[in-house]
Amino acid sequence: MRTPTRRTVLVSALAAAGTGLLAACSNDAGPDPMKGMDHSAVNHGPTGQAIAPAGFVSPNGPEVAAAEAGRRPGPERKVALTATETTLDLGGRTVRSWAYGDRLPGQEVRATLGDTLALTLANHLPQPTSLHWHGLALRNDMDGVPGVTQEAVRPGASFDHRFALSHPGTYWLHPHSGVQQDRGLYAPLIVEDPKEPLRYDREWVVVLDDWLDGVDGSTPDAVLAELAKGMGGMDHSSHGMPGTDMGGGTPTPATGPSRMLMGATSPLLGGDAGDVAHPFHLVNGRLPSAPETFTAKPGDRIRIRLINAGGDTAYRVALGGHELTVTHTDGFPVEQATTQALLLGMGERYDVLVTVKDGVFPLTALAEGKNAAALAVLRAGGGAAPDASVRPAELDGRLLTAGQLKADASVRLPAKAPDRTVRLELTGGMARADWAFNGRRYDPAQRYPVAAGERVRLEFRNGTSMWHPVHLHGHSFALGADGPRKDTAIVLPGTTLAVDFDADNPGLWMVHCHNVYHSETGMMTVLGYQA
Ligand code: C2O
Ligand code: CU
Repeated sequence: MRTPTRRTVLVSALAAAGTGLLAACSNDAGPDPMKGMDHSAVNHGPTGQAIAPAGFVSPNGPEVAAAEAGRRPGPERKVALTATETTLDLGGRTVRSWAYGDRLPGQEVRATLGDTLALTLANHLPQPTSLHWHGLALRNDMDGVPGVTQEAVRPGASFDHRFALSHPGTYWLHPHSGVQQDRGLYAPLIVEDPKEPLRYDREWVVVLDDWLDGVDGSTPDAVLAELAKGMGGMDHSSHGMPGTDMGGGTPTPATGPSRMLMGATSPLLGGDAGDVAHPFHLVNGRLPSAPETFTAKPGDRIRIRLINAGGDTAYRVALGGHELTVTHTDGFPVEQATTQALLLGMGERYDVLVTVKDGVFPLTALAEGKNAAALAVLRAGGGAAPDASVRPAELDGRLLTAGQLKADASVRLPAKAPDRTVRLELTGGMARADWAFNGRRYDPAQRYPVAAGERVRLEFRNGTSMWHPVHLHGHSFALGADGPRKDTAIVLPGTTLAVDFDADNPGLWMVHCHNVYHSETGMMTVLGYQA
């Protein structure tokens, strides 16, 4: 028999005093939403704060410490980051926004496999914030999810993140607080492999982003408030669920013009392309009229690391005059395959190799279905820079999707039948701004149980009329038996995507749509390792 800890005693006491979440939420129950979900001990405490349900691993529990020790944390790589309000120059247009330091994207964090990343985040923002390491299988109490894995970092405070880096690859970091990610708060995170098997001459990190913050008075919070009213303008006040501290915090009065997007469609995305009309699309923080230029020599092999840091935009990417050899997606190697174009949902990454031709070439990121594009330039010879409106023919050429790739043999999941299937139906819509899993809007006290050692299947059934890039924290799942290892994958409307992962990283891990406006209105939940 286990000795009750102070914590479990406290939780039970509060649970007895609390009001049931079930009662609070029972009016929006979808079809059989509770199946497989443990709500037995979910309660709200006297302050209305959600109290963690009992029976699950704690983010700073001994299981998490043991998993971290198994990663054999190596030498420290020290980094300091400041989240601050600042003025950003997008290239001829300045905006007030929030960013890491005074730059966009934030200064890239680069470390080596086996390092211990020791990153101090100072919060100079007027709101609480947090730092999430998108794609990393790290220790749970450093995952940066306020109200689930740790507390938010208060204004004026700082937080020391410290964890082992256990896999090389292309990752990125952003807050997990409200819609802060749709400001300038993002930066690439590159974990180098000391035994890097690829040969290349140069490396180019390319971060794509849709932008509205500070443009004609717009803010992501105002856009969220507009979307949360639904298309009929009914007040659903989905912003700020009871007991959540998403850090995005207080409802903001709508400012700026309407940014609600209607009628954007894309065959590649199965219909509706997005909800938000971002006025700008950026590569590495630059407008197409003042693009970043990357210089190389003809014949150079370049590794391009593509990252979609957008809030609501899928990007179709091509490099004029070149084929792309895909080597990785979401940090993990694939059997190399060539393509002319790639489609990246929000949160996704692709690494590609190109052999540079002689001349000047546009790297174009089409805002899929939105009739706009972001641009960067590859210069390896003389000639005029491409016009901002250029659309390389490769954009309409062969396009490899993640489902067509195969995992490199070194990272293929061994064949095994799933021990457990977690069914997540993607529900809701823009009309009522009721995006959710299984008809239940996000509550930080939700837990879908999994057990350490299991092969877990996540089955995403998209019953909505829109595509969603679904993301799992702390693990890389496999897309089918020999498909690529990823942490973010596009689920088209009307389709079901099944992904498998090994439950080898104990803790509480978010599953959510990486459309930040969908996750914030409710399409987000928690997988919990049973204690
Ligand atoms: Cu980029 Cu919760 O994730
Ligand atoms: Cu979504």
